Amino acid sequence: MATPAPAEITAMRRAIELAARGLGHTSPNPVVGCVVLDAAGRTAGEGWHRRAGGPHAEIHALRAAGERARGGTAVVTLEPCDHTGRTGPCAQALIDAGIARVVYAVSDPNPTATGGALTLAEAGIDVEGGLLADEAAAGNEAWLTAVLRGRPFVLWKYAATLDGRIAAADGTSRWISSPESRADAHRLRAAADAVIVGSGTARADDPQLGVRIAGLADDEITPPLRVVVDSGADAVKPGARVLDGTAPTLIAVAEDADAGHLEGLAPIVRLPRAPQGRGLSLPALLQALYDRDVRSVLLEGGPTLAGAFLAAGAVDKVVGYLAPALLGAGPAVLGDAGITTITQALRLDVTDTARLGPDLRITAVPVRTARPEEN
Ligand SMILES: NC(=O)c1ccc[n+]([C@@H]2O[C@H](COP(=O)([O-])OP(=O)(O)OC[C@H]3O[C@@H](n4cnc5c(N)ncnc54)[C@H](OP(=O)(O)O)[C@@H]3O)[C@@H](O)[C@H]2O)c1
Repeated sequence: MATPAPAEITAMRRAIELAARGLGHTSPNPVVGCVVLDAAGRTAGEGWHRRAGGPHAEIHALRAAGERARGGTAVVTLEPCDHTGRTGPCAQALIDAGIARVVYAVSDPNPTATGGALTLAEAGIDVEGGLLADEAAAGNEAWLTAVLRGRPFVLWKYAATLDGRIAAADGTSRWISSPESRADAHRLRAAADAVIVGSGTARADDPQLGVRIAGLADDEITPPLRVVVDSGADAVKPGARVLDGTAPTLIAVAEDADAGHLEGLAPIVRLPRAPQGRGLSLPALLQALYDRDVRSVLLEGGPTLAGAFLAAGAVDKVVGYLAPALLGAGPAVLGDAGITTITQALRLDVTDTARLGPDLRITAVPVRTARPEEN
């Protein structure tokens, strides 16, 4: 791409920040931010996509800019859409507003929405893609992964001692991680469309799986769908905290499970059992969630379910909160993931480390080994 103006780089950084405000609210749509600069390069309007079905980022920014958009530049984190879904095409709105130049970061991989750049160029608008593309793509990693893989993005999150234990030998586990780590984990929940636990965790902890963030009112949070994977429909009982009605809940059970006692308490989805191993088919679970517009999943475990997700190649990112404590005995953070020898170890790239109070937060992504045909 040609050298962008400094004001365009600053505007793109701001647009990426604005886009992040939509995390957790926009699925099945991406998060998008937009800054409109006037003809002199000054910020005239800002916007972000706030929720699915609402106006796109460009429309908010154009409205804020008003007449100052004429002859100006729209800086947007994703290629403007070219299709009429629940809202009109953004490419046309930019043309109608008299925008002279459009700078975007990431091309739209969605086959139904792509083509905006071409439409804009055909209308005589100067169009450039690729500005701060890596940063913008990182902000949209869940949606981009979901489009690419045809299933929701899965982030596995856990809290463990430094020796990788999630509970002591007698089963006691509260609280392994610090208040700072737990607050951070609630931010992960708020950014996800669904949070998943297995029946073992439902039985042991009776988790509520809601989101609490200091300083944010309930109406500023879109709580994720609470999903319990409970093949026999025998772990979630009437009165379970996950059925408290404060957020949507889905109980995934086997096709042959007797789930009569859940009638009227929570929606259930019946899924085939896994062809081998225990529990339900994970591809079927992820498909059922995708069909419900879930694009990002926070997998909260426990170790058995996490092992099955890893064995299925269905973990895209790992966030581990490591507390500076040692237990020496007690369950490990990860159960059987189908790995029997060291050469099969799932290798990860660490993408971030942070101190949260006394704890260490490690973020890592699986190293995807290239298949021969990809070399
Ligand atoms: N520290 C942490 O970060 C953390 C997080 C979560 C949990 N935990 C702890 O973990 C412990 C529970 O762990 P857990 O391993 O016993 O239970 P789990 O992983 O929560 O649940 C495992 C169960 O999920 C069901 N399941 C359904 N489909 C499955 C599939 N495809 N693959 C595997 N399992 C599937 C199976 O039972 P059915 O088929 O019978 O339904 C299985 O036994 C608790 O002590 C809890 O406190 C710790």
